[in-house]
Amino acid sequence: MPEGGLRSLPLRTCLIFMRKVPFPQSLQIIGRGSLNWLADRPIVVSFEVTDSCTCNCLHCDHGGPRDESRNLRPAEYRRYMDTLRPCVVQVSGGEPLLRPDLLEIVRNIKNGSRLPYTILVSSWSLMTAELYQQLHEAGVDQFSVSLDFPDERHDDFRCYPGLYSHLEDLVPRVARLGYDDIVLNSCITSRNLAEIDAIADKAREWGVNLCYSAYSARRTGCRDLLPATPEQLATLNQHLDRVEARRDGSNWIVNSRSTLDATRRYFENSGTPGCKAGHRFLVVTADGSLQPCSMQFHRFPLEGRARMIGEFTRQNRCDECYVSIRSYLDKSFPQLLWENVRGFFSVKA
Ligand SMILES: C[S@@+](CC[C@H](N)C(=O)[O-])C[C@H]1O[C@@H](n2cnc3c(N)ncnc32)[C@H](O)[C@@H]1O
Ligand code: SF4
Ligand code: SF4
Repeated sequence: MPEGGLRSLPLRTCLIFMRKVPFPQSLQIIGRGSLNWLADRPIVVSFEVTDSCTCNCLHCDHGGPRDESRNLRPAEYRRYMDTLRPCVVQVSGGEPLLRPDLLEIVRNIKNGSRLPYTILVSSWSLMTAELYQQLHEAGVDQFSVSLDFPDERHDDFRCYPGLYSHLEDLVPRVARLGYDDIVLNSCITSRNLAEIDAIADKAREWGVNLCYSAYSARRTGCRDLLPATPEQLATLNQHLDRVEARRDGSNWIVNSRSTLDATRRYFENSGTPGCKAGHRFLVVTADGSLQPCSMQFHRFPLEGRARMIGEFTRQNRCDECYVSIRSYLDKSFPQLLWENVRGFFSVKA
């Protein structure tokens, strides 16, 4: 049994790309996740709290300032939480750290409770050690930090000079506080295929965890960034083989093996059918509309969730991404539960 007993078990817990979750919180997530599954409520909700961004990344359709006048105010998030009752929330954007009231948003999402498990998805261009601490205290459970290259090429890809050196200074510094809640999020494109293993080195060097995600051409229409040639697929597979060989009991590579295998197939086939966007997960836009995902711009009011499932999800044939949120929620509920419960028992043994 690891030091600290059940509370500190590194349980690869329920339903999504999380790190170490205390045992009581894991049980709550499993409980609420099961209820939501049966009640057709979403398991994961992604709040895009702003459309504006500090960067202008080559793979993304965001970039620069946007109209902020209709953004939801912090207290309005309560109504979404009361209705949707997700067990996992992503706070994303655009760049969420651009919201000066982000702490208030997080507090309203958490409402003093352990649930939902809350993940802040950010480039960290505006992160400071002080803000990290404040967000941790406000209730952020996991910090997902985008990293596309293990050096200054990250600045070029994100059109943000100095971003890599900022991360290189800040990430290891705040990781040493010991919360073990930072996960580098690396989106695999044709540009960084040969860096997959080096990005894992960087995560180890900085003392943080790592999650890979897969580029989709749907955001920008740019197919050059989608690995598809035999040479690119061979490089992808070589690097992911090396990553697989680096797994250990600490679960620092957050993707499961089955998810990375499915990521290989997504690139091989240039798509993955069977998407449950709008049903098992959905997006709330900055101005409060529901969308099935960040790349499908069919908008519904909060009260229109059932209509979204009928009009979008049941007809949806889109197979154009395999982003993390999909890669977990495409699985059947028994498979999800089994993967996570097995993770728990394998650690316990
Ligand atoms: C849209 S960004 C929003 C949060 C924040 N601005 C950031 O970059 O982390 C969330 C994640 O989506 C990824 N992303 C952007 N464009 C993508 C694409 N075309 N396909 C897959 N992931 C993409 C980013 O690399 C980032 O990790
Ligand atoms: S990936 Fe994130 S940082 Fe880059 S443009 Fe998109 S929203 Fe902004
Ligand atoms: S596959 Fe699903 S999540 Fe991905 S872009 Fe299409 S509808 Fe959205």
